[in-house]
Amino acid sequence: MRKLWGGVFSGTNDRVVEAFGQSIETDLTFWQEDVIASVAHARMLGATGIISAEEAKTIEDGLERIHEEGPGALPRDVEDIHTAVEARLHDLIGDVAGKLHTARSRNDQVATDTRLYIHNALLEVSDEIKRLQATVLEQAEKHANDLMPGFTHGQRAQPITLGFHLLAYFWALQRHGWRFERVVELANYSPLGSAALAGTGFPIDRFATSKELGFTAPIPNALDATSDRSYLLDALSAAANLMIDLSRLSHELVLFSGREFGFVKLGDAVTTGSSIMPQKRNPDMAELIRGRTGRAIANWVSLATTMKGLQLGYNRDTQDDKPPLFSSLRLINDSLVLTGLMLQRADWQTERMRAAIHGDFSTATDLADALARTGMPFRQAHEIVGGAVKNCLDRGITLEDLDATELALLAPDAPPDTINVLQPEGSVASRESYGGPGPKAMREQLEHAARMLGETGFSAPV
Ligand code: ARG
Repeated sequence: MRKLWGGVFSGTNDRVVEAFGQSIETDLTFWQEDVIASVAHARMLGATGIISAEEAKTIEDGLERIHEEGPGALPRDVEDIHTAVEARLHDLIGDVAGKLHTARSRNDQVATDTRLYIHNALLEVSDEIKRLQATVLEQAEKHANDLMPGFTHGQRAQPITLGFHLLAYFWALQRHGWRFERVVELANYSPLGSAALAGTGFPIDRFATSKELGFTAPIPNALDATSDRSYLLDALSAAANLMIDLSRLSHELVLFSGREFGFVKLGDAVTTGSSIMPQKRNPDMAELIRGRTGRAIANWVSLATTMKGLQLGYNRDTQDDKPPLFSSLRLINDSLVLTGLMLQRADWQTERMRAAIHGDFSTATDLADALARTGMPFRQAHEIVGGAVKNCLDRGITLEDLDATELALLAPDAPPDTINVLQPEGSVASRESYGGPGPKAMREQLEHAARMLGETGFSAPV
């Protein structure tokens, strides 16, 4: 294996030692960031006169060549990406390549590379979140008036609409987009030029490299810059948080597509058959998203456990910050795409959802509200309605079966138009409070969501 640090060592490393320490395969994910950061460093070395302008130019040209060649031309018999790029540069331009590493270390390099990497990767996640929001909003518009039972404690509670239910996920996604943007903002500071841990005696210009690489500013303390991995923990935590919401949506799709509910038929593209039971259509993609959420949480736990109690300064432990990061990023991108696909192909069984409300007494609250509106204390209204429900149950009928005369007997104080809210349509139509499912409130909410979707980036979700 080719090495950057052969000078003071003698003898050859055992193969297990080499393999255990090697990260090149994982590092290739951010090979471009490594090259770009090196270009900025080389230019700065030239501009400050630390190396000659000519040497800087030769190095920069070599790096540009590496960029054009792509990762396929980089050697693999090396420890990591930094070694690979420098080795390739030496192949291309000779000994002057050795000057690139003046006034820097792999410790500030790797921190710079991963900060650059998550910047772009998380912006892509944000785009994917927007795309899913667009799908959710489209479906919510389409089903704004389709009634379904709303649940609390997993039990039918009050009638709502499918559009209203779907919009709840729109706002969850808005929070995730907002959160990812904040992670990007917080990570966007430059460690480059911190060298191993303690800065350098060379007259470098950290502000220049920071600016050139698009960072907001250099990190003010070189020891902090090389030690910190909280930006990766933030990214992993935001990813786990997003997966948790996607897993809830997935679980609902699993539940609602089962025969017991029968609320939705999922598309062929996102389901599979069973190898033994011909009648089955399994919601595999939803199940996998739900299941792999465990992995996203574990990825955060994995790095958090690595970081806990680590002494300041670079520690090799943190080399393993990358596999969980790349695993979670891949997972959230795939899961966002698949969730969009599931929703686009979902065939909602609106009649069945409407029918599921029948006879579940889920308009009892509306009856209590109607009584309370006459000035009766809500507690008393609650009691009267409890009696009416019991009466219906004893007679084997439901609230919506009551006619005006029967209602007047059971709840004498109820105004005559109360009969309307006993029907699920009337119940939903009456709940026009801000954020409620009534037609006017929903229209406002849909417009609000469309405005948010039209913005570049994500404003605070409230
Ligand atoms: N591959 C290393 C990592 O990812 C790069 C930094 C190595 N630094 C060192 N002093 N060995 O953390």
